Amino acid sequence: MGSVSLKIGDGSARFRRASLCSSAVNLLMLFSVITTNLFALYAFTYSPKDHQTYRLLHHTQKNISLISEQVALILREIDSSQKKLAQMEKELLGYESIDLSNPNIANELKVFLQHHSLPLGKDSKTGITEMVASVGHSCEKSAGLLSQYMNYKVSGPCPDDWSLAQKLILRGCEPLPRRRCFAKAVPKVGLDPFPISLWKPVSDKIVSWSGLGCKKFECLNAKKLSRDCVGCFDLVNGSENERFVKARSKNDFLIDDVLALGSGGIRIGFDIGGGSGTFAARMAERNVTVITNTLNIEAPFNEFIAARGLFPLFLSLDHTFPFYDNVFDLVHAASGLDVGGKPEKFEFLMFDIDRILRAGGLLWLDNFYCSDDEKKRDLTRLIERFGYKKLKWVVGEKADTAGAGKLEIYLSAVLQKPVRV
Ligand SMILES: *[C@@H]1O[C@H](CO)[C@@H](O)[C@H](O)[C@H]1NC(C)=O
Ligand SMILES: *[C@@H]1O[C@H](CO)[C@@H](O)[C@H](O)[C@H]1NC(C)=O
Ligand SMILES: *[C@@H]1O[C@H](CO)[C@@H](O)[C@H](O)[C@H]1NC(C)=O
Repeated sequence: MGSVSLKIGDGSARFRRASLCSSAVNLLMLFSVITTNLFALYAFTYSPKDHQTYRLLHHTQKNISLISEQVALILREIDSSQKKLAQMEKELLGYESIDLSNPNIANELKVFLQHHSLPLGKDSKTGITEMVASVGHSCEKSAGLLSQYMNYKVSGPCPDDWSLAQKLILRGCEPLPRRRCFAKAVPKVGLDPFPISLWKPVSDKIVSWSGLGCKKFECLNAKKLSRDCVGCFDLVNGSENERFVKARSKNDFLIDDVLALGSGGIRIGFDIGGGSGTFAARMAERNVTVITNTLNIEAPFNEFIAARGLFPLFLSLDHTFPFYDNVFDLVHAASGLDVGGKPEKFEFLMFDIDRILRAGGLLWLDNFYCSDDEKKRDLTRLIERFGYKKLKWVVGEKADTAGAGKLEIYLSAVLQKPVRV
């Protein structure tokens, strides 16, 4: 109250100075002081008379918060039930990683991945009850590309997209899902009969160039595609037709020498990263059947190899080899074997090679590039752990291909798989 009086004193002094006849204003001020004080008195002394109304209001608020709590509980229940249902759906389909309920997943992928129960129930020989289709678990990481790949008209022509398929494979999406469309057909006119086909130049017209930088073999031959393929599509003029039959360095072994080490027991072989298939061609001339494993990185390797009358295998090295244990007499691998990354990655590959090679079979490491001495030591240590017999072992140095004067280390070896008991 004191503060209010003080204020009015100040105010009246100022008003007086401004105008002598301001009694009306003074009266107004007095009135406002009185009403302010009355309000204050009321506020201090007021206690609610209508307690009933207050309690009701209070209860309603309490009841509302109770109801909203209940609603939240119900919503949580619904949410968790939905999650459980989705989980059950996933378990039912057997796909944990690919969310088939995602609306962005192509319908064809859903159809492909659906499990199909065997019509007669459990098969007594195999014990399976349903047919399952599979895709690589890493496909999930490339769901967008995968859906693009599976987006086509059923029974219509497939999009001309083999390079998309390869992109998926290189991202670990392997195996790819199957498709129900017709792949683009390339007329294979003018194929030569075997064995003439082995060394006949392949026409530019009988391979698909879509998604590739070059559109002609001439263009590819002017490029260094990899350590193992420099002009490797030129079967006539370059040095490709001298490989394996004419040594350019002590690291180059001749096919006949290696076959002699196998003492006549080499009939089937597997060539890893085999470029244009020349190893298989030279082996075919010696009645040895060789499968050449290659992707189509920057060039139509698979079609070229097939045009030569040889067997191409379109598969990345991240994939378990689709062969049974102990079946090959020979495995040939060059620098294409270098998968990079951690040593374990290379170990997994080496164990898989060991698996498909029969006891007494030969592993031919052909000019395997070791970036430095340490890498060579690591590789040597790994090979020695397998207990292979070193039939040939040559470590060579070459001036680097870039011409920087640095020496590069190459290892060539023929190793015989031991009989393990
Ligand atoms: C609040 O809920 C109680 C029961 O929990 C009920 O007896 C009461 O009538 C409700 N009050 C109001 C205002 O809704
Ligand atoms: C090989 O060289 C000859 C003469 O230089 C040339 O006419 C021919 O087209 C070449 N062949 C190939 C397949 O490059
Ligand atoms: C390959 O097999 C054919 C037919 O069996 C035979 O005539 C030919 O001499 C064989 N070639 C070699 C190099 O063994």
